[in-house]
Amino acid sequence: MAATAIDLQPYASLDDQDCEQRILRAKQILGDRVVILGHHYQRDEIFKHADFSGDSLKLSRQAADSSAEYIVFCGVHFMAEVADIISRPQQVSILPDLSAGCSMADMADLEQVRRAWRELGTVLDADESITPVTYINSAADLKAFCGEHGGIVCTSTNAQAILDWSLERREKVLFFPDQHLGRYTGYKMGIPLEDMVIWDYDLPMGGLTAEQIRNAKMILWKGFCSVHQMFKPEQIENFKREHPQGFVISHPESSFEVCQMSDFVGSTEYIIKTITAAEPGTKWLVGTELNLVNRLHQTLASENKIVQFMSPMVCMCSTMFRIDPQHLAWVLENLVEGNIVNRISVAADVADNARIALKRMLDI
Ligand code: 13P
Ligand code: SF4
Repeated sequence: MAATAIDLQPYASLDDQDCEQRILRAKQILGDRVVILGHHYQRDEIFKHADFSGDSLKLSRQAADSSAEYIVFCGVHFMAEVADIISRPQQVSILPDLSAGCSMADMADLEQVRRAWRELGTVLDADESITPVTYINSAADLKAFCGEHGGIVCTSTNAQAILDWSLERREKVLFFPDQHLGRYTGYKMGIPLEDMVIWDYDLPMGGLTAEQIRNAKMILWKGFCSVHQMFKPEQIENFKREHPQGFVISHPESSFEVCQMSDFVGSTEYIIKTITAAEPGTKWLVGTELNLVNRLHQTLASENKIVQFMSPMVCMCSTMFRIDPQHLAWVLENLVEGNIVNRISVAADVADNARIALKRMLDI
């Protein structure tokens, strides 16, 4: 190991092309000691360096299957945590910029979830009657909470199978942090909207009466994604008016109304596969993050497909955007010098319980 890590500061003045050369050189030196995982929302300057790209589920499996010494996760914090939890102990998970979080994941913390569990326990036996289900967009200690309480993790790809599993075991589900994914999936499974209640974590008893809790099938945490909440029904109406033959496809973090009005709903990987497999010349309105939509627009232009972003406003995931070529060059050049910077390391006791919940998911 080199004595001191290379400082980040000088990288700030490098332009993207310089960084690109440095990234390519470092990757060549490191060879199969390093694997770069890139989420679909990454900007192009980063995405092109990914050895594997995918949605949260695909990248989790990739991290679990990788034998590389270093997993450099170009995504957000919870993704690098998952990589650390499910990789082997000698592997190292790295997030190029530690400030790349997820604002939705931050809407539920362990104290709030523990309090919810205690309060629900005043109405019914929580461990007997409720399966806690956390969306993968959550901190490791919430996954650990689910592992400890007979619960599980889900992603946007497998939410329905996970809810089936959960409701086979216990009569109710506490779903956090994304209310929209929970509501859309529950409704698709035939659970009426009136059987799903919102848990407002700022209010005592989540703002619910004992009767509302007893009658509910799903208790949905009041969290949401600030990017996907920008998509609105009127944007779909305008598109359909202009392109009556066009298709609308959305990520399930979008509102219930937007999902209901969409022709297709699914994860980032599903969105890419569906539009890519469609007939040439088709027109698409897409409700998910801008970098992904722009990339599809460019790659599919040669097939005369029109791929249009749903919102008239620019709404990128600002935290995904924090992973830039400067940070990627910095972490890789440090690895070349034998320095590990920006390691994401989940405490062993938390990781053990979180792994239980993640394994339950990966086994389904
Ligand atoms: P996917 O698992 O569909 O890629 O979603 C991750 C995410 O954060 C979407 O906002
Ligand atoms: Fe989190 Fe939303 Fe960004 Fe996805 S798009 S990482 S849910 S803030």
